[in-house]
Amino acid sequence: MPSLVIVGAQWGDEGKGKIVDALAGQADVVVRFQGGDNAGHTVFRDGQKFVFHILPCGMLRPRVLNLIGGGVVVNPRKLSEEIALIRLPEREWRRRLRLSGEAHLILDCHLALDRCAEAQRGNRKIGTTQRGIGPAYADRAARTGVRLGDTLDEDYFRAQLKTCLAAKRALLPKALARQVCNVERVARETLKLLRPFRDLIVDTSILLEEARQKGKHILYEGAQGTMLDISAGTYPYVTSSHTIAGGVCVGAGVGPHALDRILGVSKAYATRVGSGPFPTELQNATGETLRRIGGEYGATTQRPRRCGWLDIMQLRQAARLNSLDGIILTKLDVLDGFDKVGVCTAYRWGGKRRPEWPASPVDMAKAEPIYTFLPGWQQPTTGATRFAELPAAARAYINKIEDWLDLPVTMISIGQDRKQLIMRRKVF
Ligand code: IMP
Repeated sequence: MPSLVIVGAQWGDEGKGKIVDALAGQADVVVRFQGGDNAGHTVFRDGQKFVFHILPCGMLRPRVLNLIGGGVVVNPRKLSEEIALIRLPEREWRRRLRLSGEAHLILDCHLALDRCAEAQRGNRKIGTTQRGIGPAYADRAARTGVRLGDTLDEDYFRAQLKTCLAAKRALLPKALARQVCNVERVARETLKLLRPFRDLIVDTSILLEEARQKGKHILYEGAQGTMLDISAGTYPYVTSSHTIAGGVCVGAGVGPHALDRILGVSKAYATRVGSGPFPTELQNATGETLRRIGGEYGATTQRPRRCGWLDIMQLRQAARLNSLDGIILTKLDVLDGFDKVGVCTAYRWGGKRRPEWPASPVDMAKAEPIYTFLPGWQQPTTGATRFAELPAAARAYINKIEDWLDLPVTMISIGQDRKQLIMRRKVF
């Protein structure tokens, strides 16, 4: 199975960073295909913590080529900052990284617009990460965006930038517009920041095709999660990219036949950060316990995450939308102390029990989760190295999830360390 897609099966923050980092050991190429520095992928290496926002998780592996695909939005300032943080010699990171010329730039005007749009929405705000993601993708769709590849020719870049910034001036308060919409200033700063990356800007689609023809192992690393997909998620409380497996094709520049296996990462419970529907949210002591034990604070914004029980209806939706071949279950150990564990196995709205995800926002507002409670295991799982070593009740919990979803749970994460990972099946 030379190409493997890893997507978030919930609302992001499923622990994809650790999984992709672990699997990157078997990969030749790791590809980010959507999102931007709104993502926060936490990777622990020799006791050291790294949080990747824009760089693919394979950057710490000397053997891996890391690609930032055309579906990604790149803030040049954040890119330079993150490169500095990984503390690799320049020669080394340059060897490991390539960027698609099609990736769009996030500029200061996008950050300013993100802040203004959120303020204007009042109590209907999305709760964005304020990284300028929405406005940068809006520019792409409006054909007023600026791409990484555009910066390779200074005159062309300035012309594109002029159109982009002209469209922003009227949307921002005057003083702010003066600060962030000065063509010459933005051009100078951007070109300076991107100078070290200039010759790394290539057609990543061609690199992928070559890698594929050589039978290389390619790992597509999703950011955010299925329910934040611009189209299939809980619109409008979503991000602005395609987070589902279909997003790989458009965001990396490969056709659908190029994807061999697709795995969805899900926590053993559920979390969401930002506003929007989250029917199994527990606004009580149990929710607080999940947050405390799970350390549920955003990797990008440090915001407390909303916590609740696993939702089978939501995961079935994810399985269908992504063509999932299996589930990777993370943070099982967070449930170790609970005497019982809840799972939403149906909804009730309009006086009826319904085994489905309430797709419309109107049904969603009325839907009440129906829970099945399974016995907890009240024993540590963190030292298990094989499925058989997990407590019987933990195994039963996982088996039930497999039955409900009709999908195998292929990997189980039981702690932060790279070694705390049970591999049940070969994934590559
Ligand atoms: P944006 O992507 O910054 O526009 O934010 C839109 C929504 O997606 C907000 O609810 C964010 O909290 C959420 N979001 C964006 N990136 C992530 C992520 O990496 N993990 C979890 N939630 C995210």
